[in-house]
Amino acid sequence: MERDIKEILVTREALHQKVKELAARIDKDYEGRDLVLIGVLKGASVFLSDLMREIRIPLEIDFIAVSSYGDSAESSGVVRILKDLDMAIDGKDVILVEDIVDTGLTLNYLLKNFKDRKAASVKICTLLDKPERRKAEIDIDYVGFVIPDEFIVGYGIDYAEKYRNLPYVAALKREVYS
Ligand code: IMP
Ligand code: MG
Repeated sequence: MERDIKEILVTREALHQKVKELAARIDKDYEGRDLVLIGVLKGASVFLSDLMREIRIPLEIDFIAVSSYGDSAESSGVVRILKDLDMAIDGKDVILVEDIVDTGLTLNYLLKNFKDRKAASVKICTLLDKPERRKAEIDIDYVGFVIPDEFIVGYGIDYAEKYRNLPYVAALKREVYS
């Protein structure tokens, strides 16, 4: 796996530190509210499980799976729900937890979808933000790291379902995905 990596962009130590910072902000912002963290499968699963363990206020979690890229490296812009939420979110304060915001098309769709379900509020927490490729303008409330336009793997993030178990965030060598 390591030989396919071009560069480590975020180390495990930096990930841990940032997760603690984001959790502290969420603790403050959501005190006394009805917080639900909703992870977008599968990429955000590692981030969400680390994040929730640093948050000290009560919360619930749920997951949604959507199709965006399939096994290719380009977003189609068409979003389809593959696995829906288990819980009703009306009246709840939702934080959508994402691995990467790239074009923004996935989150744009989910934001609207969750507002239609009458969530009390919906905010976004993403580990990584790739602003260069944005197509839909969205407000991101909690951002871990702003990264360049590289193909990213590790810490839950895949290329063709591989590399999710790398403990850091890395750029993949171009010859691996092109
Ligand atoms: P968007 O709709 O273009 O913002 O796509 C967001 C989703 O595409 C993220 O949740 C990721 O799952 C995936 N994605 C975007 N960039 C990358 C990348 O560099 N590596 C792996 N997956 C990515
Ligand atoms: Mg994703």
